[in-house]
Amino acid sequence: MSEKVKVAVLCSGGGTNLQALIDKEKAGQLPDTKIVRVIASKDTAYALTRAREAGIETSVAKTQEEVLAQLKECGAEFIVLAGYMKVLAPEVIGEYRDRIINIHPSLIPKYCGKGFYGMHVHRAVIEGGEKESGATVHFVDEGVDTGKIILQEKVPVLEGDTPEELAARVLEVEHEILAKGLAKAVKDYKEKGAK
Ligand code: GRF
Repeated sequence: MSEKVKVAVLCSGGGTNLQALIDKEKAGQLPDTKIVRVIASKDTAYALTRAREAGIETSVAKTQEEVLAQLKECGAEFIVLAGYMKVLAPEVIGEYRDRIINIHPSLIPKYCGKGFYGMHVHRAVIEGGEKESGATVHFVDEGVDTGKIILQEKVPVLEGDTPEELAARVLEVEHEILAKGLAKAVKDYKEKGAK
């Protein structure tokens, strides 16, 4: 069986997207990858607890230099931003070009870019009178939410939805498409000939 592609997951918060990846990996739905490290931008991120409970190595990187050093240290070949709230340095993006993916809680190119994160996204979607929203898995480049789209899935925006209700509906879809997006990106990467 060919070597699994080593994946590092970068987080900043609760880590429910990380948990979805951990659960799908455990259920054998991610046969080509193995999460080898969870790197958090702050030591209070509950994502670290989720990783430790799953027996995954963890570290905290407060600067982009530390991110780069820790990625090299764990031998990561692919990176997933799962609720990571920092902007990756160009050095990191350059080193892992086309091997970094992110999950964004809207249908990019709508409601993305600077300032569109978390509840700000869902509030703007509702204020914009949208009838649908959703989540997007995309490659990370030097822009904010501008990399090539890998996968998207829609959800309805219901009459009277609060931002919190819409956020919960979108989060369910995030948990499904992040693993699918990772599997697709890694499959394409392996077919192109892993570095
Ligand atoms: C999610 O809404 C995700 O779209 C965004 O950050 C939020 C964090 O979710 N990038 P979690 O930390 O994975 O629960």
